[in-house]
Amino acid sequence: MSALVIAVDGPSGSGKSSASRGVARELGLRYLDTGAMYRAMTWWMLHHGVDVHDSEAVAARAADPGIVSGTDPDGPTIHVDGADVSGPIREQEVTAAVSAVSAVPEVRRRLVALQREIIGEGGIVVEGRDIGSVVAPDAPVKVYLTASAEARALRRTAELAGTTVEAQQAAMRQRDTLDSTRKTDPLSMAAGAVELDTTALDLDEVIASVLRLVKERA
Ligand code: C5P
Repeated sequence: MSALVIAVDGPSGSGKSSASRGVARELGLRYLDTGAMYRAMTWWMLHHGVDVHDSEAVAARAADPGIVSGTDPDGPTIHVDGADVSGPIREQEVTAAVSAVSAVPEVRRRLVALQREIIGEGGIVVEGRDIGSVVAPDAPVKVYLTASAEARALRRTAELAGTTVEAQQAAMRQRDTLDSTRKTDPLSMAAGAVELDTTALDLDEVIASVLRLVKERA
């Protein structure tokens, strides 16, 4: 297996998932969605009646859920204590709570350790908020995807039923603020990362740009 690790960070709606999966498919690499792991942890906390805004209560249970992440770019799945939660982790209740849970240092320590185990020898595209800065700072290829707030909200609105662009923009703004201002491992562009603004690019163009970068750097 190739030792290559490609770190893809950026805010929600910047196009990380589609681009990361496309790049992994093109290069025959594995794919890890670290956001799904924070969502799975959040789903478990809600499911067990833990108050997600009580950071001490969340910290006390952070070691308990058994989280297993699939790495197939064609159909990534995630299981918690044996249950497939790939669908439920996308629900609004989880999305609204995930930034609070992911700000808890014990949660991050646990999930970063799991992520490093999965990344192991490499051969993987990893997407998240802190991959190039914290999880895999030695990754030879680091990409930071951005897009205008309008473009990001439009993309999310197209993916989700029953929402409006305005509602999405407000929800994303709130999540971005929490993710980029938290004390532990905030969303930020890593040293050595290349910023790619995807506002005016379609998916194939984003994938082609990342593949060019891989050719140059790896
Ligand atoms: O990527 P996605 O939007 O599914 O991520 C959900 C949430 O998980 C983010 O808003 C952030 O709070 C958290 N997250 C994180 N660090 C990562 C990936 C996601 O804190 N590496």
